[in-house]
Amino acid sequence: MCGIVAYLGSKDAYPILINGLYKLEYRGYDSAGVALIDNKLSVYKTKGKVSKLDKFVEDKNTNGFIGIAHTRWATHGEPNKENAHPHYSMNKKIAIIHNGIIENYPTLKEELKGRGYRFDSETDTEVLANLIEDVMHNESCSLQDAVLIALNQVVGAYALVVISEEEPDMLIAARKGSPMVIGIGDDDYYIASDATPIIEYTKNVVYMNDEEIAILKKGQPLKIKTIANQDKTPYVQELEFNLNTLEKGGYEHFMLKEIYEQPSSIRDSLRGRLRAKEGVVSLGGIVDFEQKIVHANKIIMIACGTSWHACLVGEYLFEDLARIPVEVEYASEFRYRNPIITENDVVIAVSQSGETADTLAAIDLAKEKGATVLGVCNVVGSSISRATHAGSYTHAGPEIGVASTKAFTAQVTVLTMMALRMAQLKGTIPTSRFMQILHEMEAIPDKVEEVLNDGGVAQMIAEKYKDATNFLYLGRGYNFPVALEGALKLKEISYIHAEGYPAAEMKHGPIALIDKNMPVVFIATNNVIYEKVVSNIQEVKARNGKVIAIVTKGDKVVRGLADYVIEIPETEDMLVPLLASIPLQKLAYYIAVMRGCNVDQPRNLAKSVTVE
Ligand code: M6R
Repeated sequence: MCGIVAYLGSKDAYPILINGLYKLEYRGYDSAGVALIDNKLSVYKTKGKVSKLDKFVEDKNTNGFIGIAHTRWATHGEPNKENAHPHYSMNKKIAIIHNGIIENYPTLKEELKGRGYRFDSETDTEVLANLIEDVMHNESCSLQDAVLIALNQVVGAYALVVISEEEPDMLIAARKGSPMVIGIGDDDYYIASDATPIIEYTKNVVYMNDEEIAILKKGQPLKIKTIANQDKTPYVQELEFNLNTLEKGGYEHFMLKEIYEQPSSIRDSLRGRLRAKEGVVSLGGIVDFEQKIVHANKIIMIACGTSWHACLVGEYLFEDLARIPVEVEYASEFRYRNPIITENDVVIAVSQSGETADTLAAIDLAKEKGATVLGVCNVVGSSISRATHAGSYTHAGPEIGVASTKAFTAQVTVLTMMALRMAQLKGTIPTSRFMQILHEMEAIPDKVEEVLNDGGVAQMIAEKYKDATNFLYLGRGYNFPVALEGALKLKEISYIHAEGYPAAEMKHGPIALIDKNMPVVFIATNNVIYEKVVSNIQEVKARNGKVIAIVTKGDKVVRGLADYVIEIPETEDMLVPLLASIPLQKLAYYIAVMRGCNVDQPRNLAKSVTVE
């Protein structure tokens, strides 16, 4: 993961770099650092968050019109100051920031040690810095050539930027497997892991492709080459997002803001794609592949974390509506199996960031096997959106909180539209039923609004159970993925152990955990298996467990059994995840806040997991 920012131009680099790091902190916050050239190359770094770095440099020279900066999520070496980026080369003339993993670094390090190089850190990145210095020295070549030669010796993944005191008007960037965007200003250049640090300065960007090197020299046009040294023409695109979406907008945390944005993010996902009155649902990005999906042998959905939970909802939707067999796979498992995939299969990769390394590797595998691969991504221009044959964006807007909320409901929204469209094309749904679901889908944003205005119930329940050490989340059918998602939200931000289970599986093991201290969250909405879930609630109550239940408005039976209920409006069973997930997001949020946890930046996590 890690966030990288770089600047070259006529403005003071430091404020641009530090602001960029704050925006990229969601990618990691174990340590941070900055390198600036003001005649001399200086590197400053600290363990901990970007604010610590900002404080640390208060009495240092932060002048300079060129610089690179990094916020780290540790892979090689513990998160201390020595391992923080930027890394100097041994002669302290070169500095480098890097996101990714150099797999053959132990061999390279041994070779460099044999040639007299010393290392201050345990990182793979410092090896690369010294390798570049070594090449420059041996070949008497420019920084640009040295980076090119060095990268041809490297195995692994990287997004990196290199500067040298000896060529102080130049940034060299390279990408293979980790994201990198270049912003082109009037007389300056910006580089970052994603466009958020760049957008306030310029809308003209170039998304680098794998195995490309960019040479950015003051006063000269951007040059792009492949690492095989072939010239490429930079493809400049105009960014389209609104700066306000990157601010907290009066909310205490991004996560809370993003939870409350869901009526509008779902509306944005539906916009122009679903028109209930006309009986239209259509996703422009996959129109050319519709027949391929309709006639697919099977669909394989691949994703990680929350996106994997959205896929589970997708599985039920495609099976129910379009009668297409679906398998849902953890991308991290799928990539190392020998899955049975043919050219008649369609793979759908779901990812908020579009940068998840395991999902990218699973896409490569599926493509190798000849499958058609479609993406459902939130971040426009992301690696997954470009690695897939086609796809649909979720249009949820930037999600900054590490815990995914609005991205999940937007993913479910897009998968629902896809399944409905396939059902329509395949003729597996009567028109009247199709129209009914379309109308209900159109009403979802208003219903989400209603769920959000819960009169403080989620907060009150959070107060009651904030000190619990374990939680169980149970649901069946469409509500099973919601249970998994509810449990993930709680554990990742509050550090309370939580498990999600299909409610009926409780009696095969988890029931042993139930006692008076165990809160059990049931998603017990009106559906064909409601009575069965009611029985599961009774089983928990009989063992003195505490029951918190998400129920359909007006429910009396569960209300009579549960300790606390949260009502959601009546809707189609298949659309319940869009409503029922919201009180669970709020519950997790308030519990985490009450426990004093850093909600937007939970420990050990990062927003996009760009390493294995
Ligand atoms: O960006 P992606 O959707 O590919 O990310 C997948 C997971 O890393 C992500 O959903 C993670 O589980 C979230 N922190 C959950 O809130």
